[in-house]
Amino acid sequence: MGRGTWEDHYTRRAREENWLARSVYKLEEIDKKYKIIRRGHRLLDLGCYPGSWSQYCSRKVGPKGEVVGIDLKKPDRFSAPNFRFLEADVLSLDPGRLADELGTRDVVISDLAPQTSGIHVADTSRSMELAKRALAIAVAVLDRGGCFLCKVFEGEDIQGLRDEMVRHFKAVRTIRPAAVRKASREVYLLGLNRLHKS
Ligand SMILES: C[S@@+](CC[C@H](N)C(=O)[O-])C[C@H]1O[C@@H](n2cnc3c(N)ncnc32)[C@H](O)[C@@H]1O
Repeated sequence: MGRGTWEDHYTRRAREENWLARSVYKLEEIDKKYKIIRRGHRLLDLGCYPGSWSQYCSRKVGPKGEVVGIDLKKPDRFSAPNFRFLEADVLSLDPGRLADELGTRDVVISDLAPQTSGIHVADTSRSMELAKRALAIAVAVLDRGGCFLCKVFEGEDIQGLRDEMVRHFKAVRTIRPAAVRKASREVYLLGLNRLHKS
C-alpha cells in the first residue's frame, strides 16, 4: 500500500513491525480476546494475500502446526516452512473435495473481500457470497470444537449468515475490531466451538 491518504496509525505500525498488511491488527485483537489460534493448530486462511494473517498464524501455530492459505493471488513476500499456498477461486472450490485434500482443520479464518465497485448493494452482495462460501468450507473442514472467523460487509443478509453459523457453532460473536477503518462497513463474525459434524 502506498503512503497516500489511507496511511494511518495501523499502516505505519505494520510497516515498523514488519507485518505485510495492517489487517493483522484486526486478527491480533480478536485472537487476544478469544484465544482462537494456538500452538500446533492446523489452520486454513481464506483470502490470504498479501499474507499478514498467515504470517501471524504461522508464528503462533509454530513448527508443529500448519497454515494453508488460499487466494487468487500468490503472497509473493511471505514464505515459512509451516505455510502452504493454494492458488484458487474459493467460489469454484468444492468444500468436500478440499476437506479430503487438506484433512481436518482446527481453525478457518476468512478475510475474503471482493474488489469494491463503490456500488453499495453490489459490493455487499459479493461480500456475502464470499462469506457464505467461506462458511461452507469451514463446515466441511473444521474439526469438532474448531473456530471460524469471517469478514463480511454489513447488510441485510448478515442476520441470515449469523443464524446459519448458530446452527454449526456453540457461540457466535459479531466483532468490529479497532483497526477497521471508520468509513468501512466490514465486521467479523466469529463461530466458537464447532458442534458435531452434521
Ligand atoms: C483484504 S484481502 C486479505 C488480506 C489478508 N488477510 C492479509 O492479512 O494479508 C482480501 C483477499 O481476498 C481475495 N479474494 C477475493 N475474492 C476471492 C476469491 N473468489 N477466491 C480467492 N480469494 C479471493 C483477494 O484476492 C484478496 O487478496
